[in-house]
Amino acid sequence: MKLLFFGLFLVGICNAGPVLQEELLVGDFFGDIIAKLIQGVINGICSKIADPINIADKNIVLPDSQLASGHFEVKDLVESGLKGLKATNITVVTISPSKLYVTLGIPSMDINTNYDADILLASLIPIYGNGLANINFKNLQFEMSSGYKLEMFPKMALSINDLSFKLSIDSATFDLHGVINNEAFSVIISQVLDDTIAPFINNHSERLSKLLSPFLEKIINQAFSGSKKLELSATSFEELNEEELKALMILYMHSLQSHPKFDQLF
Ligand SMILES: *[C@@H]1O[C@H](CO)[C@@H](O)[C@H](O)[C@H]1NC(C)=O
Ligand SMILES: *[C@@H]1O[C@H](CO)[C@@H](O)[C@H](O)[C@H]1NC(C)=O
Repeated sequence: MKLLFFGLFLVGICNAGPVLQEELLVGDFFGDIIAKLIQGVINGICSKIADPINIADKNIVLPDSQLASGHFEVKDLVESGLKGLKATNITVVTISPSKLYVTLGIPSMDINTNYDADILLASLIPIYGNGLANINFKNLQFEMSSGYKLEMFPKMALSINDLSFKLSIDSATFDLHGVINNEAFSVIISQVLDDTIAPFINNHSERLSKLLSPFLEKIINQAFSGSKKLELSATSFEELNEEELKALMILYMHSLQSHPKFDQLF
């Protein structure tokens, strides 16, 4: 209600138009403010992103579970392309139920790293090795939809809720070396990942959204609250819903099984 009065007040100042249109004008007015706030946050993030980004070495020890155990280390990880992040559509629905639709796109993104892995998947599939890993993602589209709350006092603050998203990607290309310390196998596994990862992401976008949205919502709200440092840590990953993660892994196993090179994998 406070919000509506404030809006009417400003519209009153800015526009002495016919009364009938005021409600519409309020909506447009807030839609504009919110769209600009979002664009501002995105521009702010983009201006701070280095290209390339060197990411600190990480040794992730997986908590012992039936899903996966062991450790995974990445060294000299370099990301490039994230700076190309652009909002291609920001749509704000100000009439109840208020909704926010934001589409983000990244034309091309590369990850180059050294890795050292010793993991046991599903208590039976060993994945080990070390070497270089290069991954390229083409045309990532990230369509988000959420509710939102805009507070005006004590200062203007936007926060989102009930986030869901649709992720689509044109291709994910892998160039892995040293998997099970075998170059021929590394070539095969790279091809299989090329063929399966992008279609898997596109096919199971809804489940990915279920798994990752709570975690992303937190990060986005941190960005809106002007937090200087976005907290991304290994513990964040432990907050992921294990049931959803398991369901996704099983679905991925199924898509692997129908790949013509499946026999050469295990
Ligand atoms: C932007 O997103 C809204 C909500 O999903 C959709 O209705 C609209 O068609 C989109 N516009 C463009 C230009 O993609
Ligand atoms: C994705 O869906 C298509 C069409 O339904 C199907 O042919 C393909 O096998 C699926 N791929 C994966 C990896 O889930």
